[in-house]
Amino acid sequence: MQTLAIIGAQWGDEGKGKITDLLAEKCDLVVRYQGGHNAGHTIWVNGVKTVLHVIPSGVLHPHCLSVIGHGVVLEPENFLAELSKIQKVTKVTPDNLKLSSTATVITSYHKLLDAAREVQGPEKIGTTGKGIGPAYEDKVSRRAIKVKDLLDKDTLVRRLSMGYAEKAILFKHLYQIDIPAIESEVERLYAYGQTLKDYVVDTFSLIDQKLSQGKRVLFEGAQGILLDIDYGTYPYVTSSSTAASGIYTGAGCPGKKLEEVIGVAKAYTTRVGEGPFPTELFDDVGAYIQQTGKEIGATTGRKRRCGWLDIPLLRYSVKCSQLTSIALTKLDILSNMNELKICYAYEVNGKIVDCAYPGINLHNAKPLYKDFKPFKDSFDGGKPSAELDTYMSFIQENLGIPVGIYAYGPDRNQVVFRQDYHAGR
Ligand code: IMP
Repeated sequence: MQTLAIIGAQWGDEGKGKITDLLAEKCDLVVRYQGGHNAGHTIWVNGVKTVLHVIPSGVLHPHCLSVIGHGVVLEPENFLAELSKIQKVTKVTPDNLKLSSTATVITSYHKLLDAAREVQGPEKIGTTGKGIGPAYEDKVSRRAIKVKDLLDKDTLVRRLSMGYAEKAILFKHLYQIDIPAIESEVERLYAYGQTLKDYVVDTFSLIDQKLSQGKRVLFEGAQGILLDIDYGTYPYVTSSSTAASGIYTGAGCPGKKLEEVIGVAKAYTTRVGEGPFPTELFDDVGAYIQQTGKEIGATTGRKRRCGWLDIPLLRYSVKCSQLTSIALTKLDILSNMNELKICYAYEVNGKIVDCAYPGINLHNAKPLYKDFKPFKDSFDGGKPSAELDTYMSFIQENLGIPVGIYAYGPDRNQVVFRQDYHAGR
């Protein structure tokens, strides 16, 4: 297999970083194609925790080339801070990390606007406050600063001037905020450009070249399919294409198609921020999963909302991204519970619905549950119990794709490749 994608099949935080890190061992390139530092990919190696936000998770493998594609939005200050942090853990240089010259830059006013809108309302999205949405807005309106613009002061002044007056008026009169003077923003961004310039390349041609040399490429998704700007639970979504389609627009897979698309899903469901969540648990069981699973955002520190596994949502994700298999994470959190359920369908206006199609109002969806005998596995290297096998078999039979991988702890080696499953290896 030459091309592989790892994508969140729920609302993010599924444990993609861990699966990416594991499968990166057999890949030559790991490519991020969307999102920005709103992501938080946590990887544990030998008891040491590393959280990556915009730098691809392949960076912990010395043989891997890590690539930040043009679909990513990059906040230069944060990127450089993350870089210097990761350099204490592993060697990262312009030889093994490449940044697209046409990735979009997140500026000071994007962050200010993101925060101001969340305070002002009227409808709160519960964003990470990193300026992601406003940066993508500027991209679509053709006013964005690209990474290559940071490298030439005249271009930077010209590009930044577009819309700056409009933004200054908006901030002053609507939000009563003064944005930084254009001169200081130019100086700030130009200085960052000088620091990161050695990492900047045309990543599309790099990926093209590597694919034609037969190299193996892993595309690493951030957030999850249900947060996709087009496929997700709009407006409670992020502003990028988190589904597999985002790979073609945000990085490119020239001359090839994706051979394997692994959807990473938790053994239950979580969500941060606002938006519908049919299987959300407001009782002690939800609190237990939140605490036992340490369900706290790696980027924002917010508590995640928790609920039972939701098959209709996953069925929809499989269809949106042509997922070829599932990697099921955090099974250890469900071990030893007193009860165990999976939502297999919804009742909506008296009808039974088994896929969370966008035409369904998820606020009105009543989850229908199947009860399972709780499993009590200790995951000490033995075979999974019959109860755990039943739980996983139900998922794969209902989704029509295998649960090929499962994970039962945060470390790189707390992962099992199920019998006969060889994808990604
Ligand atoms: P934004 O991406 O900061 O604009 O936030 C939009 C929505 O996506 C909010 O509900 C966030 O909580 C959610 N979100 C963004 N990034 C992540 C992530 O990495 N994990 C989970 N949720 C996320």
